[in-house]
Amino acid sequence: MDWETLREQCLACEKCDLCKTRHNVVFGVGDPNAEVMLVGEGPGENEDLQGEPFVGRAGKLLDEMLELIGLSRKKNVYIANIVKCRPPQNRDPMPGEQEKCIGYLFEQIRLIQPKMIICLGRIAAGVLIREDFRITREHGQWYEKDGVQYMALYHPAALLRDPRKRPETFEDLVRIRETIKQVCTHTYDETTI
Ligand code: URA
Repeated sequence: MDWETLREQCLACEKCDLCKTRHNVVFGVGDPNAEVMLVGEGPGENEDLQGEPFVGRAGKLLDEMLELIGLSRKKNVYIANIVKCRPPQNRDPMPGEQEKCIGYLFEQIRLIQPKMIICLGRIAAGVLIREDFRITREHGQWYEKDGVQYMALYHPAALLRDPRKRPETFEDLVRIRETIKQVCTHTYDETTI
């Protein structure tokens, strides 16, 4: 499937009840040729209203984290979510909703063919890395699957709630930057400290 067909199908999706309460489908944003892909769990209120992932407070923090290591949604990463429509009251997406939606993300991954996929939070890591993934213990570790490097970070919303997690996340970001230098061909930004 090509990008336009995928986007059209996703934007018209009525496979689960989240379509009844959404304002916008939040398909994804960034460089379709990115070597680095980031995956969150699902849109919140601001994302639902604007149709773009990570545009609220957590999104602002995410952009700052990315900037530290030379990454930007405007330049060299692609950002998407496990589910494309907002779960009411920002509850976790239910397993049935995730199952119906995940095909869109798998198609995005197939089209982008990223070198690394960074899972933002427990839900994304549970889907993409391992069902019983423990974010507290396993964030910052690399997992290789089918030639793609996977790592999970604490979700930016968790870092807003608990700033004590930030130093560990900074170390994780440094590890991502080191691996970008090793495995990516056009993402590494020499100008970033
Ligand atoms: N949290 C997510 O997981 N995804 C978004 O797009 C916004 C907030």
